[in-house]
Amino acid sequence: MQSKKAGGLAGVIAGETAICTVGTEGVGLTYRGYGIHDLAEHASFEEVAYLLIRGKLPTQSELDGYRETLIGARGLPDGLKIVLEQLPGDAHPMDVLRTGCSALGTIEKETEDTNQSDIADRLVATLPSMLLYWHHFHESGTRINVETDDDTTAGHFLHLLHGREVDELQRRTVDVSLILYAEHEFNASTFTARVAAATLTDFYSAVSGAIGTLRGPLHGGANEAAMALIERLDSPDEAEATVLEMLATKQLIMGFGHRVYTVSDPRSDIIKGWSRKLSEASGDMTLFDVSVRVEEVMRREKKLFPNLDFFMASAYHLCGIPTPMFTPIFVMGRIAGWAAHIFEQRSDNRLIRPGAEYIGPEPTDYVPMAERE
Ligand code: COA
Repeated sequence: MQSKKAGGLAGVIAGETAICTVGTEGVGLTYRGYGIHDLAEHASFEEVAYLLIRGKLPTQSELDGYRETLIGARGLPDGLKIVLEQLPGDAHPMDVLRTGCSALGTIEKETEDTNQSDIADRLVATLPSMLLYWHHFHESGTRINVETDDDTTAGHFLHLLHGREVDELQRRTVDVSLILYAEHEFNASTFTARVAAATLTDFYSAVSGAIGTLRGPLHGGANEAAMALIERLDSPDEAEATVLEMLATKQLIMGFGHRVYTVSDPRSDIIKGWSRKLSEASGDMTLFDVSVRVEEVMRREKKLFPNLDFFMASAYHLCGIPTPMFTPIFVMGRIAGWAAHIFEQRSDNRLIRPGAEYIGPEPTDYVPMAERE
């Protein structure tokens, strides 16, 4: 029988990809060969989405065209608005996106004539619109106009959320977060999308399954769970005492550890830098200082390091983003990676269907109902 440690397909090479390297020695995290530090410093999310979905960095005119395409694709069909209005106001926003994606797939069906890149673009453009249409309708009964002319997805999202001019530091933080979230090889949600795509199902089904998988706290949901911890800590000393107590009672500290990385997550320091900048701009370092202490205690006590989700929590909070929207923003970035993987799977497809080691009862005779205990 497999041990728990060998479970979870840890270390198993489950296929080939030309999209991303994760933790490869001497190479690190790359999207189509480009290092994550360069992308996070110099590129916009739209450049990265273009790179992932279309396979190359865009020229200026290609990027301008792509931005125009996304701006023009932000509107929601009336049928989808009705669905979003019918969903409960207290639904989890991840469930709203999962349902919104699925509903769009019934209204704008993928057929043999559909260009799959158009669906990817449509989802990149509409995921923020779906979330914020639903949010404002249930918060205040307002049917907002989701068609902004902001030229970035980050600006579009913050504009729709706050309903006012977007702060540039916050916009760039969300932009960088989308880049960092955009792709990560065969993680659980991407693998879900590939398994679905390998059955030759439609694009929306593959993405709906991926959204449902990302929702879990061991995957994308960790950023919300990290926020739940740090927001109840008033000082670094309280953080230290709380984390020690949690570790003593064998609780997980969300936002720490990783299946593939063993020493550090290269994305963590990038978002930590943005979290620091936002804290300094706000004039209140409490959340940042608390987070840094949690990081120190985890390194000292468990040799565990923060993954991307830990400092993402304080960064998003300082952008005025409600906690239940943290994982949905992950979706808005990761849709680019999911799309690239669905295309790649389709381009050289074979059904994904592994085997299992049977550990159940020996073959036995059927027991008639009257003789069962
Ligand atoms: N807090 C406390 N202990 C942790 C931990 C965490 N965040 N992450 C791992 N550990 C401990 C485990 O309890 C385990 O200890 P043990 O050997 O005494 O049983 C050991 O480290 C190995 O962890 P394991 O769960 O086997 O690793 P995994 O590769 O199966 O899981 C994660 C990887 C990411 C699921 C895991 O680190 C985790 O649950 N992290 C918190 C959720 C999170 O941040 N997810 C986002 C991932 S990007």
